[in-house]
Order: sequence, then structure tokens, then C-alpha cells
Amino acid sequence: MPLQFATRLNNVETSAIRELFKLLGKPGIISLAGGFPDSAMFDVEGLREASQRALQEEPGGALQYGATEGYEPLRTQLAAFERSKGVTDIEPHNLIVTTGSQQALDLLGKTLISEGDKVIVEGPTFLATIQCFRLYGADIESAPIDAHGVQVDKLEQMIAQHKPKFVYLIPTFGNPSGALLSLERRRKILELAVKYQVLVVEDDPYGDLYFGKAPPRACWRCPRTCRAAANGSRTAGRSARC
Ligand SMILES: Cc1ncc(COP(=O)(O)O)c(C=O)c1O
Repeated sequence: MPLQFATRLNNVETSAIRELFKLLGKPGIISLAGGFPDSAMFDVEGLREASQRALQEEPGGALQYGATEGYEPLRTQLAAFERSKGVTDIEPHNLIVTTGSQQALDLLGKTLISEGDKVIVEGPTFLATIQCFRLYGADIESAPIDAHGVQVDKLEQMIAQHKPKFVYLIPTFGNPSGALLSLERRRKILELAVKYQVLVVEDDPYGDLYFGKAPPRACWRCPRTCRAAANGSRTAGRSARC
């Protein structure tokens, strides 16, 4: 019997990310096209020890269903981590642990986007995000970027014109541009969020991975305005997703 897929899937194209994964399997290919961590950098021993300890000390807790928001001690640690980065107003109950930022983006789409809602992204942006938001019926507008990230004057015009449901940005080492949003522009974006009362969603998978000088503080880590989909899968390992 042929499967009848939901109509919202009619215009879904094959995932570019999946195509990238196929290339990665080929011997001799080091793909710089996706945000793939070097497998040699995974802390295999540390993760092995941690999982063994969890299974020994708290097997029920490790294997049982848990709170939807995520494992409480992990949320406490994540809140402490954010505080160590200068976020002053964060508590564990402000955080939800997801399986990667992709799930956080999907939840945002599911809960915020109605058919035909405008969403502003930077152009170019992460392909999987576009696909995810479109699936929920978003009408996506792209704000242009240059070497310093999204051009805030253009972004402001677009916010005023389109009154988007939210703005989605990757301010630190954007995917695929690699652009780094300057501190001045970060400040300006926070001002725009307040001025137009628009939600800014910051996707920050790469902010803690840099050589030399640290990038400017994530917008999320500035006093309350933005909400973020942060991401530990680049630093801990793909399968340890939070
Ligand atoms: C900007 C951006 N957001 C989200 C993701 C997906 O992250 P995760 O693997 O945590 O779902 C990626 C992965 O390449 C990315 O580059």
C-alpha cells in the first residue's frame, strides 16, 4: 500500500545535511562543509567513565524516564556554566535540555510559527533551520550579511516592514558563512529586539570553539533580551547532545 504522507511534506526537498553525511563516509574526504567535530577529539575515556559511574551509582535514574525539561543535575550544571560566562539571571528552571539544537529549533517552529508567519534569518544561514521552519509554514526572509555578520541597518528595515514572528541568527561563526557578528552589531540587535519587541533566537553551537581571541559575548549572555538554542554537541560529541 503506498504511504500517504502529510500534505505539509509535499514540498520538502531532500536534506542537504544528509547529502553531506554521505560524502563524509568516503575515504580520504575531510569535509569542511558541515560543522563536524574531529572524532579524534572526543573524550572517549571521560565519557566511558562518566557513563559507567552513572550506571553504577544511579542506574534507575540513568535508564528510567525523566523530567521532560531534562535531568535536574544536568540543568543545574548548565545554569552554573552559563553563570560562569557572566549570565546573572539564570536558574535551572529556565533551561530545557533537548537532543541537539536541531530539536530546540523544531520546538520553536512547532510552538511559535503559524502558517504564513514571517521569520527573518541571515542569508546565507543553516539549511536545516530553513527546512525546519518552512515545515511549520514560515515565510522566510533573508537579511544580508557581510564579514561582520548580519547588516543591522538592513535588518532593522526588514523587521519594521515584515513584523516577523522572530529573528533567527547565528552570530558567532555563522554556518555556512563563518561570519562573526561584531560587538557593536550585537548591541544594536539587542536594541532592535527591545525597540520592536521582537524575539531574537540565537543559535550558538560554535561560540566556545575558537583559536586565539575569544569572540564577543553571545547575545544570549547579555542581560535579558534574547533566548537561545545553545549547543553542546560540538564540544562533547555528536551523540552527547544537549
Ligand atoms: C548553526 C547550527 N545550528 C544547529 C546545528 C545542529 O546542531 P545539533 O547537531 O546540535 O542538532 C548545526 C549543525 O551543523 C549548526 O551548524
